[in-house]
Amino acid sequence: MKVLVTGSSGLIGSEAVLWFDAQGHTVTGVDNNMRADFFGPKGDTRWMLARLKERTRFRHVDADIRDRAQMFTLWQEFRPELIIHCAAQPSHDLAATRPLDDFDVNAVGTANLLEATRRHTPESVFILMSTNKVYGDAPNHLPLVERETRWDYADPADYDGIKETLSIDNCLHSVFGASKVAADVMAQEYGKYFGLRTGIFRGGCLTGPSHSGVELHGFLNYLVKVARAGEPYTIFGYKGKQVRDQIHSYDVIQALWAFAQNPRPGEVYNLGGGRGNAASLMECVAKIEALLGTKMQTQYVEQARKGDHICYISDLTKLQTHYPSWRLTYGLDQILEQLVRA
Ligand SMILES: NC(=O)c1ccc[n+]([C@@H]2O[C@H](COP(=O)([O-])OP(=O)(O)OC[C@H]3O[C@@H](n4cnc5c(N)ncnc54)[C@H](O)[C@@H]3O)[C@@H](O)[C@H]2O)c1
Repeated sequence: MKVLVTGSSGLIGSEAVLWFDAQGHTVTGVDNNMRADFFGPKGDTRWMLARLKERTRFRHVDADIRDRAQMFTLWQEFRPELIIHCAAQPSHDLAATRPLDDFDVNAVGTANLLEATRRHTPESVFILMSTNKVYGDAPNHLPLVERETRWDYADPADYDGIKETLSIDNCLHSVFGASKVAADVMAQEYGKYFGLRTGIFRGGCLTGPSHSGVELHGFLNYLVKVARAGEPYTIFGYKGKQVRDQIHSYDVIQALWAFAQNPRPGEVYNLGGGRGNAASLMECVAKIEALLGTKMQTQYVEQARKGDHICYISDLTKLQTHYPSWRLTYGLDQILEQLVRA
């Protein structure tokens, strides 16, 4: 299969390149290292590009997904059968400082690629990496209960987490959440209206050693990096009890592959670590301290990040029902051990 991966030097994109190449597919990756522009030297992904060139046969195209003409030409030349769209401005906080860049990359960039697909390869499968931030702060309005080390859902009906049926409308999204809503809804529309084989995956906390983790994006990878370097880590609000569900990038790719083999046009899935891989920030700190055998230097700021989720767990029921062969293979402890060793 000819696979086109955008954001190929990033966490999910690089995992996709490695995996599809290893399976014998022909892979082209698009990445312009814009992560370095967004986040500075620590966000630079060239180390990953060098690694991919060394370990795979993939072809790298240094192009910008905002460049519509170049994307159309690429689609015409390469004629991808599967598109895994991971290129993005991925940070909630950064988007507020660069709203136009955020919208151009996330919303307009996605529209460019959908239209390139509709015009040139309408039979191909198009997967968009969306985000749980499309639900905005709606999850914060569910009844919550404060436990000793974490927030949790108070209503037993919410135990498995957030379902795809939660409204994405009329709440605080952050600028990033709003640009991702635009991309998410466009990808749904190209499936439902034009019949393209699009799939939309709303990520929880995606992680793994391949992340160029920075303070503003890549929570767990960054937390471990800071812990290993003995640097201070700032916790913003909610007493450090905010809950995230962690999924390894390998398990993300397996879900995308399950969809690619049997696509359901315009369908939306939540994709995270689920309850089994959910932990609060303070629980993650304790686990990392135990693994490293040292205490982390944390400081606490009362003011939470605007629109930050207090408790977010992805309900994986829909994904597992549609794709019963897919399952999580990495538990949280295993993910943390891998990050600590990396
Ligand atoms: N990492 C997470 O926790 C998480 C959670 C939910 C959703 N997601 C979504 O998953 C996708 C992948 O996330 P990630 O963590 O791999 O991000 P990442 O930042 O590691 O990778 C994105 C890549 O896209 C590239 N890129 C950015 N703008 C570009 C442009 N205009 N043209 C070409 N390339 C460009 C960057 O250089 C980077 O290498 C994103 O859409 C993100 O919003 C991520």
